[in-house]
Amino acid sequence: MQSISMTSPDDWHLHLRDGAILSAVLPHTVNQFRRAVVMPNLPRPVTSIADALCYRERIIQRIQPGREFQPLMTLYLTDATTPELVKEASKTDCIIGFKLYPAGATTNSSSGVSDPDRIYYLYEALEKLDVPLLIHAEVTDPQIDIFDREKAFISRHLAEIVRNFPKLRIVLEHATTEDAVQFVEDCSPRVAATLTPQHLLYNRNILFSGGIRPHHYCLPVLKRERHRKALLRAATSGNPKFFLGTDSAPHSISQKESACGCAGCFTAHAALELYAEAFERVGAIEYLEGFASFYGPDFYRLPRNTDRVTLQQKNWTIPESYPLGNESIVPLGAGQQLRWTFSGRES
Ligand code: DOR
Ligand code: ZN
Repeated sequence: MQSISMTSPDDWHLHLRDGAILSAVLPHTVNQFRRAVVMPNLPRPVTSIADALCYRERIIQRIQPGREFQPLMTLYLTDATTPELVKEASKTDCIIGFKLYPAGATTNSSSGVSDPDRIYYLYEALEKLDVPLLIHAEVTDPQIDIFDREKAFISRHLAEIVRNFPKLRIVLEHATTEDAVQFVEDCSPRVAATLTPQHLLYNRNILFSGGIRPHHYCLPVLKRERHRKALLRAATSGNPKFFLGTDSAPHSISQKESACGCAGCFTAHAALELYAEAFERVGAIEYLEGFASFYGPDFYRLPRNTDRVTLQQKNWTIPESYPLGNESIVPLGAGQQLRWTFSGRES
């Protein structure tokens, strides 16, 4: 049987939620990843160091005994965030960066930044203290077509931010367009992007295949095939600016299958297998290790993991659902067959 042995991977963009949902989804991530960057968009956002430390503690308490897993915390930028907070956070080992959500761009983003051009004093502090800025790069302008919101964010805001703060380390989170790939490629190495499995595997047609498909709806929304191809090319190019960030974003079945369903795909159940599928389809499986295990820690200046995991070429079928507290959740690819099986950590 064919198998792949690789350095243990990390997830550089993850939503874990809280309470019963956290308990239900965390084991999936801990099973495959050694570390994960935890998004701060809880219903009451993680805006202070105390919030982040308490949230980190709630996560750590739920790690299964005998498992090693490190949550890397982020703070949520608001109009009220101060340069002093950036300074305090820079001294704290467990906070890895600040997340910029334009207000209203996505789930739990209403307390986000109302104008990304008006917080240059914060970019200055982040740059000076060398704290990474993680960006949900979409404009919220209702005049802009939803499929163009990433491209518009780059031209309206990001290009200027990058120009004005030449040392600021930036992650364009969950890049979804050819334009984002091009932009990141053209920047210096301090600008990187995470890529999700759904944006590598699907284009926007899946959202309407035979009916409306809420479990494939996430933000930024899936784009045209040419964008998917550009993302897959970037992921499998060996360019260290592009690395793994699942954006696994759990919402219960009732939250998804609704007249106004939530954005987010749950991918933690088969994260590495989904990426392996995408990479293998273009004959680039040998590029998976760099993407999943090297370029993320290199960007964040953390040590690479030293232990290893194995994937085996063995078909399995993704369950139709998983338990989620008192409810259930439909995972990405429910009912579909995958060619690779995660067979655990090597001892
Ligand atoms: O689809 C998404 N879901 N995109 C985001 O930016 C947020 C996330 C969530 O928290 O549900
Ligand atoms: Zn996200």
